[in-house]
Amino acid sequence: MAKDIWIGDVQNGDYDGQEVELKGWIKRTRGSNKIRFVVLRDSTGIIQCVAKRDVVGDDAFEAIASALIESSLIVRGRVNVDERSEGGHELVVSGVEIVGSVDPERPFPITESAMKAADGGETEFLLDNRHLYLRTSRMTTMLKMRSSVFGAIHSYFRDLDFVEYQAPNFVAGAVEGGSTLFEVPYFGRKAYLTQSWQLYAEAAMPALERLYTIAPSFRAEKSRTRRHLTEFWHAEMEIAWATNEEVMNHGEGVVRHIASTLLDERSDELDSLGRDLELVARYADSPFPRMRYDEAIEILQGKDVDVEWGQDLDYSKEKILTQDFDVPHFLTHYPKIAKPFYHRVDPDDDKYVLCHDLLAPEGYGEIIGGGERTWSEQEILARLEEEGTPKDAYQFYIDTRSYGGVPHGGFGLGVDRVCSWLSGADHIREVIPFPRDSRRVTP
Ligand code: 4AD
Ligand code: MG
Repeated sequence: MAKDIWIGDVQNGDYDGQEVELKGWIKRTRGSNKIRFVVLRDSTGIIQCVAKRDVVGDDAFEAIASALIESSLIVRGRVNVDERSEGGHELVVSGVEIVGSVDPERPFPITESAMKAADGGETEFLLDNRHLYLRTSRMTTMLKMRSSVFGAIHSYFRDLDFVEYQAPNFVAGAVEGGSTLFEVPYFGRKAYLTQSWQLYAEAAMPALERLYTIAPSFRAEKSRTRRHLTEFWHAEMEIAWATNEEVMNHGEGVVRHIASTLLDERSDELDSLGRDLELVARYADSPFPRMRYDEAIEILQGKDVDVEWGQDLDYSKEKILTQDFDVPHFLTHYPKIAKPFYHRVDPDDDKYVLCHDLLAPEGYGEIIGGGERTWSEQEILARLEEEGTPKDAYQFYIDTRSYGGVPHGGFGLGVDRVCSWLSGADHIREVIPFPRDSRRVTP
């Protein structure tokens, strides 16, 4: 039972006057005892179908008249140009077949009034019904945008001959500090869900030199915020023989490539989300400025923000900082005490590490974290010791330095955060099909 024609093709193509067979779901339905107007949707668009009793016959008319929202149908008919209907075409129905009907006792719960009440679509009711909410036009749009973002990341790295590489998700130690580690029972031992692909990527760096992934990472974030998930999609890269600047160039390159891919592939979707295409074009075309952490602290202190040198910048501070930006900005050279052991200490001033965060404008904040890695065995041992981190879980990582360590670096990009920023979403939950946070693992 293949499908040959999509509604989007009919709306955009040259089907006027032709007989077609459309397959889809009822989005809206209204009418009288003689004529029914059924708005049919599929993954590509919507079209109004007009069924008249005296044309389709009593049985087919009764079937279509009693079919509820989200019933699935096969409709045959003739395409007509009709300026008044949404999309510019309508279907004059000659025959109809109900494929999956909806029980009148249990009508589709995601009604227009439920959506209005949710104002943006993020109430518990809509989250409880996420499996059905996915069919709404807003969520469909978000999922298409997301697919293009994933595609853009793959094409950026593959076009530069990076190798896609997979790391384990069950791990023995933290990458980004113990406070957000998910512990899982593992046959009488403890294991953790990985926070990042990085350490296992560094092990493969001498084999592959340029590698990347897009994979889930896990963080036991207790607080529920607009930009944290407990399971998020993490695009990470690692590159041998590279400096912090060179790694940043790739961060800038991939983000600009994502923005330009969305403009190419998803301008209608961006438009339907109310996104200013010129803004997205600016993200695709403009270089991203770079400033040192110390400068950011001065700016914040100049705005009377209560912040001390040495603190990592949390969201409240990033938000204030990025409100003045009109493109993403890199912050570099964070204090050593603000960052985990793997960051390479700046040989020019050992108070700092050679790292970067990329902050998205419009108040969205950090979308990338990365930098150069500590690559000599002595230095990594000293950094672990300084941090008071037990070595056991990292023995493999230390080992990689004992056999021909070389300068290298990489970054991690929060894919959901990038989707959220570029689509102008209010909340990271809006851009992922089944968001996970501290209160929710269902549906
Ligand atoms: O800054 P983070 O913690 O850096 C790392 O994990 C490095 N090991 C990456 C590397 O160098 N390979 O995380 C990287 C990015 C953040 O900038 C943010 O965009 C995203 O991952 N991120 C989250 N996104 C959604 N929900 C969360 N709880 C996130 N935590 C981090
Ligand atoms: Mg970070």
